[in-house]
Amino acid sequence: MEPTRRTELERRLPTHHLGRPLYWVDEIDSTNRLMRKWADEGAAEGTVLVADYQSAGRGRRGRLWLAPPGTGLLMSVLLRPTRSVALIPFVTAIALATAIEQVTELPVHLKWPNDVRVRGRKVAGILAEAQSTGERHTVVVGVGINVSVPDDVLAEVPVPATSLSREANREIDRVELLLTFLPALEQAYERLEADVWDLKAWKQRSDTFGREVTVVDAKRRWHGTAVDLGDDGALLVRDDDGTTHRVYAGDVTVRYEG
Ligand code: BTN
Repeated sequence: MEPTRRTELERRLPTHHLGRPLYWVDEIDSTNRLMRKWADEGAAEGTVLVADYQSAGRGRRGRLWLAPPGTGLLMSVLLRPTRSVALIPFVTAIALATAIEQVTELPVHLKWPNDVRVRGRKVAGILAEAQSTGERHTVVVGVGINVSVPDDVLAEVPVPATSLSREANREIDRVELLLTFLPALEQAYERLEADVWDLKAWKQRSDTFGREVTVVDAKRRWHGTAVDLGDDGALLVRDDDGTTHRVYAGDVTVRYEG
């Protein structure tokens, strides 16, 4: 595999660490898979890998992430956080929302835990894969943005999905999006690492609160209403008795449709 376009984009990036180095490849199975390998080999925090096409892009819950060549902004960012690992996906979602709004002027909403939506349809997803050895944490933050994914491919996605170019009704420049997103992520991540973080920006963009959710825990399956986000990223869900529970990704689905 031959990394391409490395130097030119790095020079244009207004960041300290993120995207240094930055690799852009034509094709790969999964950027998250290769970044994990690089992480294990000691790659520097901030290393970014972008691909034009993934033959086996990974989504959450074991799903595939589909995007024909050149239609998605598909990347992995290597972070080695010393503070919260659990909040990395939330930090990333805020940075993504900020960057998409800035570049496209579209209104962006966030669905817990970390789907990025425009007009009720998913435009981007985050797959943060963490590994910890003692106090040392490594997180491969995978981000997939539907920039110009065609309608027939979007129709195969198991949730209502759309693309930025479709919603904005114009072409969206993937490089501009990347150069806007990475500084936003760096800024949000630095705040998290400096412990001056709060989840207000996530909550402001949330379209999850007030929605019915289904929770599956060790004992039962129950329904409730999403009421707030906990400081650790848990969704606070009120059950029919008025008791509020903390629930975590994997245990809960938010209902939007129907
Ligand atoms: C989701 O299901 O919402 C998360 C999707 C994450 C997809 C991105 S694309 C780049 C990176 N590499 C992968 O294999 N997956 C993530």
